[in-house]
Amino acid sequence: MDAFEAFIALVFVIALQVGPNIAYLQYMKRAMRRPWNVKIDPNYRPRITVIVPTYNEAKVIEMKLQNLNSLAYPEDKLEVIVVDSASTDGTLDLCRQWLTRNNFKFKIILLSEPIRISKSHALNYALKYANGEIIVVTDADAILTPDILIKAIPYLADPEVEAISGRERIVNANACFIAKMESVYRDIYYMLRLGESKVHSTQIFQGEFAAYKRNLLELFVEDPGRSDDNGAVTEILRKGKRCLFIPEAIFYDAVPCNLIDYLRVKIRRAAHLQREFFVRLKLLAKGVLNIPKSILIANIYQHFVNPLIFFMLLVPLALYFLIELSKISLTLSTLLILAITMASISARRFIALYVISNIVLIIAFIRTLVPSKRQGWEAIRSSREYLNILRSLEKIKHPTSMRTTNTQRKSLIKLGGKPKVIVEAKQQ
Ligand code: GDD
Ligand code: MN
Repeated sequence: MDAFEAFIALVFVIALQVGPNIAYLQYMKRAMRRPWNVKIDPNYRPRITVIVPTYNEAKVIEMKLQNLNSLAYPEDKLEVIVVDSASTDGTLDLCRQWLTRNNFKFKIILLSEPIRISKSHALNYALKYANGEIIVVTDADAILTPDILIKAIPYLADPEVEAISGRERIVNANACFIAKMESVYRDIYYMLRLGESKVHSTQIFQGEFAAYKRNLLELFVEDPGRSDDNGAVTEILRKGKRCLFIPEAIFYDAVPCNLIDYLRVKIRRAAHLQREFFVRLKLLAKGVLNIPKSILIANIYQHFVNPLIFFMLLVPLALYFLIELSKISLTLSTLLILAITMASISARRFIALYVISNIVLIIAFIRTLVPSKRQGWEAIRSSREYLNILRSLEKIKHPTSMRTTNTQRKSLIKLGGKPKVIVEAKQQ
């Protein structure tokens, strides 16, 4: 194969990889503009239990409690359960201290597991104490906009809708190249998840904020290779019910600016997703997953086929082409590399995202194949630092929806609040 043939093959492989992704993005872009075929009841106010799982979250737990206290919802209809799994950094003590110093407007239960097993295990333990008709799960490192429940819960009034998840915004979006790159990913993610929700159901949930109907939710899957949120999506899809991404239900979290930390989070999440898509593919093959096939197949293409094409065809061909080109003209190949590295900032961000996403997916894939490398959970500290720095500076650029509006405030006063109740339980 000479340089010219390698070039043609390269163009073909790029088209093979990029083509289906662009086609799906276009399909989703059109789908996201469709009206919701959902019965939304803005006055729907079911009883809610908000569960916050914590493992060594001392850095953020006070901020989280403060944030939950700002939630707009009838005070007699919401309870919070903090479920800690043997944190060694005093997370639970900080919780208790914060609650005695501050007036927490909702009922709150503190649970503590003697040993740490997993987030899902902790959530299932908390479910035993939950009285809500709706279970909201929210991570300690996510900041919710105060009106998130008012915006999201009305969608659950539809009997077909079983669960909803929210939209992530990045607090430190401009802090570094990685955060800017992640913002590009989030923009694409937004279109895909919203489009999928309009067609039937989003294929991916976020554990930072997700709400489930209690009556159909059995237990969160405890398989260490899967995640609570996306595991629940699979179970709901199996029942033929819908899971929606609600664009106006906004929460914030931070992206680690350290490349290693960033890769660690992305690889763990990618491994969980691949495992989940594999489970869904099996269900689809068995004919027990009654959802439009296109959205699941497209996600499987993105999470499995894409990285394989990238590493098995695109990278070797690109290298081969560059070597062949250098043989003909070193100047030409140098110029080509220069042109790519000097591309516009947005193109550079996009190329970096494209390459990194494929690297993440392939590493996740390999790790999933090797059982000893399968990943449990590990804390990524650097992103928590960001939340704290921003909090102490009080510089989190919340949109106006971050403030409780006057009408919401009035409705809260009218409904009145129950005195704070702190129940503490230790698992036997
Ligand atoms: N009680 C308890 N026990 N909590 C835990 C445990 C545990 O063993 N392990 C983790 N947590 C808590 C953390 O303290 C945090 O509040 C939350 O679970 C999520 O952990 P993160 O470290 O912030 O996870 P992430 O941001 O990388 O991943 C999130 O998003 C994924 C994709 O949506 C999580 O929500 C994942 O569950 C989710 O799959
Ligand atoms: Mn997190």
